[in-house]
Amino acid sequence: MGLFSCLGNNMVGCPEMDSDHRTMLEILDQLHEAMIQGRGGELILVTLDRLAEQESAHFGREERLMQECGYPDLERHRELHLEMLQELAVLRCRARAGHMPIAYDTMQTMRRWIAEHINGEDRSAAKYIMMHRPGDPLRGRTDKNPCGSVLMAGPEHGGLSRNGQVSPAGVAVTGAFT
Ligand SMILES: [Fe+2]
Ligand SMILES: [Fe+2]
Repeated sequence: MGLFSCLGNNMVGCPEMDSDHRTMLEILDQLHEAMIQGRGGELILVTLDRLAEQESAHFGREERLMQECGYPDLERHRELHLEMLQELAVLRCRARAGHMPIAYDTMQTMRRWIAEHINGEDRSAAKYIMMHRPGDPLRGRTDKNPCGSVLMAGPEHGGLSRNGQVSPAGVAVTGAFT
């Protein structure tokens, strides 16, 4: 299990978003591995490129979901995505320019951005999406479990149990993430 790729408490309850987030966290794991193994800057550059590609694709998908569901805070969320992409572009430029000490900072910065964004903005958006997605028979029901019972990973996956309690694995992951 990677350091970041187990979503644990970082699951937001929207399957498409959680799947994308897991991929992004796996890339962060690869970056972390490359660093602790002292592997060359080229691998870090490739990993940063993959992260940028994944982020860009994910943000697009996430924004489309929000749009389909009429998410009222879409524009502000879109601006946050743009800021993250711009920051990542700056870090990639610095890494390409040979500032290799940026590598550790890069990972920490990515980790913080992604964790904070997932647990803040994305969690709010996912809650709205799961209550307003077109074709959902429970659409608009405020008593509906915002995470959706079929969407919650069981404790064996380091996620939440059906009654919403945090599994021990989830707690452990949260500790590693903050
Ligand atoms: Fe987002
Ligand atoms: Fe996201």
